[in-house]
Amino acid sequence: MKYLSNIIPPKVSIAPMVDRTDRHFRYFCRLMTKKSLLYTEMITAHSIIYGDRHKLLDFNSIEKPLSLQIAGCDPEEIYKAVKIAEDWDYNELNLNVGCPSDRISGNAMGAILMAYPELVADMVTAMREATKKPITVKHRIGINGNNVLPTSFKNTILDNYDYMKHFMQTIEKSKIDRFIIHARTAILSGLSPKENREIPPLKYDEVHKIKKDLPHLNIEINGGIKTIDAMKDHLKHVDGVMLGRVSYENSYVLTKVDNLFMKGTTSSISRREILEKMLPYLEELQDNKIGMHLILRHTLTLFNNCKGSRYWKQLIDTSCKEGITAKNFIKYALDSLPKETLNSFV
Ligand SMILES: Cc1cc2nc3c(=O)[nH]c(=O)nc-3n(C[C@H](O)[C@H](O)[C@H](O)COP(=O)(O)O)c2cc1C
Repeated sequence: MKYLSNIIPPKVSIAPMVDRTDRHFRYFCRLMTKKSLLYTEMITAHSIIYGDRHKLLDFNSIEKPLSLQIAGCDPEEIYKAVKIAEDWDYNELNLNVGCPSDRISGNAMGAILMAYPELVADMVTAMREATKKPITVKHRIGINGNNVLPTSFKNTILDNYDYMKHFMQTIEKSKIDRFIIHARTAILSGLSPKENREIPPLKYDEVHKIKKDLPHLNIEINGGIKTIDAMKDHLKHVDGVMLGRVSYENSYVLTKVDNLFMKGTTSSISRREILEKMLPYLEELQDNKIGMHLILRHTLTLFNNCKGSRYWKQLIDTSCKEGITAKNFIKYALDSLPKETLNSFV
């Protein structure tokens, strides 16, 4: 299937991550990659309808292209949420069918929805009716729902390749723009969300195979992708790669993706330039009496594997505690961090 919108989907995106991919994180990412697609944290349709919309949905235009990830289980509610979000003009709307947490699956949202492909298809249709923007679904390669799903599912296998294919072909009928597949089964009882990102084995071959078997679908792979070489390798098989934890565990890697994978070139940026470009944002936060730590906490690994890494973390810690001005913080960082690290591009 051709991507239905006119926008070419980027080859690299940065995953939705609760407690991570907030506005400040996204701003920081944008200093390093202009072209990757960014995601919000997961937001439930219910909160969009009944909660503080500005708090949940506002963003800075620099963050675009930006996808809003919604969790829900009711097509009518999803429709309303997407309609509301229209005023914010996100670039894409994404449905969460991958979250394994008890709280989310206990409310029939997230990964448990893989057991109900027709319902997911109805939600995608509802989203499509509410917007002309691209609609995407992020899911797992399967689920193990023992002890969580109704007994009617007792002998149904939901965690093999054929089931994933059936799931995707059912959704495809609703005209979906892209599938993002986290290449692990979600185990819906007995594992925490964190364990569910580490214990079930990664099965990249299944994601590569689905692209081969259903080449008309736009497929993005996710899970455990940490290096440029791994990205290059996956892009031989699928249309896109989604980066999760590496974006905050080794953030400087993001400075490489535009040049390597996206059309048009963006010049590389050194850590020195990143700090300089962060200054106006830090000053704006301080002017609005918002703590600098809200963005600086996302930058802790900027100097990973380089001289000055420990010092950078200490500097953030002490500066935030002492409440120094943004200008002094950046000046001090630029004066005291090793020049070779600040100026290098590796
Ligand atoms: C702290 C954290 C929060 C997450 N929150 C979400 C979320 O809100 N929505 C979602 O679809 N996935 C969420 N995930 C899963 C990631 O999007 C991604 O699928 C997963 O981390 C695997 O990719 P990685 O190995 O590259 O990190 C979260 C992951 C982490 C680490």
